[in-house]
Amino acid sequence: MAEERKVCLRGSKLTKVFGLGRQKTVAVDHVDFSFYEGEIVSIVGESGSGKTTLAKMLLGLLNPTEGEVYFQGKKRDIGTHKKKKEYWKNIQAIFQDPFSSYNIFHKIDSVLLDCINMRGGRKFSHTKKVEMMTEACGFVNLKFEELTNKYPFELSGGQMQRLMIARIFLLKPKILLADEPTSMIDACSRATILDMLMQLRKEIGMTIIFITHDIGLAYYVSDSVYIMEHGKFVESGTADEVILHPQEAYTQRLINDVPKIYEEWDLSTV
Ligand SMILES: Nc1ncnc2c1ncn2[C@@H]1O[C@H](COP(=O)(O)OP(=O)(O)OP(=O)(O)O)[C@@H](O)[C@H]1O
Ligand SMILES: [Mg+2]
Repeated sequence: MAEERKVCLRGSKLTKVFGLGRQKTVAVDHVDFSFYEGEIVSIVGESGSGKTTLAKMLLGLLNPTEGEVYFQGKKRDIGTHKKKKEYWKNIQAIFQDPFSSYNIFHKIDSVLLDCINMRGGRKFSHTKKVEMMTEACGFVNLKFEELTNKYPFELSGGQMQRLMIARIFLLKPKILLADEPTSMIDACSRATILDMLMQLRKEIGMTIIFITHDIGLAYYVSDSVYIMEHGKFVESGTADEVILHPQEAYTQRLINDVPKIYEEWDLSTV
């Protein structure tokens, strides 16, 4: 390899089975992967293919039935609450439904203050904390003065999405998992949010894992693409390999769902 790329997150035979007997669902089925530092990975698959289940295992919100997760070369250990909290400094998520990510009884100030405290800023002066929160809100085009004293449910969907990115700005995790982060907002703010995430990646060098149905988005933003079908990775590689030269019929079918966009790219890239 010409340049040295460090593996940030690795999975070995990672598996999740829900239920027992006839009710059994193998949601994630022995997947292997290596995500590198600073790269953008997309995991693409149809509804029910196991994407969110995999994301939850990566985050430590669901226990794998089988297999292991390795973080920065070491087997992940999140056996205690303390270790879990330590792990969450490194990996953060933006979920499909931003409402589910906040404690609705916490005002926005305390959502952001929590982030500063988590990053060891508990002892900072109040002025310094306000400065940091103002900067983070500014990064996502929100005005801190207008948000202070509000509750998350008093924000619009788009504002809430941006508040989530402001949290990431303060937390500066090594890995950001974005599970369909743009599904509930219009195309224009969708592009803005993608831009913000890309800029954030440049600034703090984080790995971004996008989870999406949208193979067009995956092609546009990713270094690597993993295609998921019935809990398995059926194909993976660089975005060009997987999307311009798919080997699997399933990948081909996902691409054919967006024929027009694909043809445009085809012309400009081949
Ligand atoms: N808590 C659970 N208990 C039982 N089955 C579950 C649970 N969570 C998910 N499943 C099942 O696991 C499979 C994968 O679900 P998952 O939510 O991971 O899919 P997904 O790829 O994220 O789909 P979508 O694109 O619709 O979000 C589905 O068959 C689902 O019904
Ligand atoms: Mg999902």
